[in-house]
Amino acid sequence: MTEPRGLQAQGQPARYADLAAKARAGQWSAADDIDWRRPPRLPLWVTGDQARAAISQLYHGEIATSRMCRTLLDDFPPGPARQCLEFQIADETRHAEAYERYLVALSGIAAMDQHLAWALEAASRGPAGPLGTMVAFHVVVEGEVLRVQDSLARLLPCPLLRQINRRVARDEARHVAFGRLYLTEALVDLSAEARCQLYGWLHGLWRRTTERAVSESVSSGTARRLLRAWLSGGWSHHQAALRQIGLGPDADWGRAA
Ligand SMILES: [Fe+2]
Ligand SMILES: [Fe+2]
Repeated sequence: MTEPRGLQAQGQPARYADLAAKARAGQWSAADDIDWRRPPRLPLWVTGDQARAAISQLYHGEIATSRMCRTLLDDFPPGPARQCLEFQIADETRHAEAYERYLVALSGIAAMDQHLAWALEAASRGPAGPLGTMVAFHVVVEGEVLRVQDSLARLLPCPLLRQINRRVARDEARHVAFGRLYLTEALVDLSAEARCQLYGWLHGLWRRTTERAVSESVSSGTARRLLRAWLSGGWSHHQAALRQIGLGPDADWGRAA
C-alpha cells in the first residue's frame, strides 16, 4: 500500500476555522470549572476498586490520544486544521487531568487494561501511515471512549463524574467533527484498494481486541454474554462512522482516486 505521508487535505479552511473558533471559545479548566468540593458518590453495588479500574481506562485513553495527536503535528502545516489539532491536544490533556483528579479522590489510578494497551499500540502501527493512525484513533478509539462514558454514566450515577463527562463529551463532539471533516477529505487521495485494506485492518484490529477481551474475561455465563453483546454492538457503531468518511464495503466508492 502506498503510504501518504502528508496529511494535506484542507480544502475547506472556513470549516476548520469555525471548528477552531468553537474550540477556543470552549476551553475550560479542570481545576476551576469542576466542583471538586463534592466527593465521588458510588452506588452500593459498585466498589471503589471497580470504579477506579473502569475510569482509569478513560484516563489512559486520553493520554494515548493526546500522544497520538502530538505525533501528527508534523504532518499539519500552519493553518486552521492544525489549530484544531492543537486545541484537541489541549482538550485531551485537560480530560486526563480531570479524570486523574477524580481517580485521586477514589484513591488512585489503576493500571491500563492489557487489552486496551494492546489495541492502542496496534492502532499506532497501522497501514497508510499517519492517516491510518488518525482513522483508528479519531473514529474507533474516540468512538469507544464515548460509548464507555455513556455506559459508565448509567452504571455510576455520580454527580461529580457526570459533571466531568458532560464537559469532556462536549469537547469530544468537536473532535469527532474535526476527524470527520479532515478524514473525509484526506481519504479521497487513497486508492480504492488502499481504502479497502485500511478498512480490513481496522475491522481485524477490532475483532482481535474484542475476542481477546471476551476469551480472557474472568466472568462467565450471563456476564460474558453481556460483555460479548456490548462489544459486538460497538462494531456496527464504528462501521456507521467509517461509512461517513468513505470507508467500508458500502461507502461511497465513487470518490476513490
Ligand atoms: Fe478526550
Ligand atoms: Fe478526543
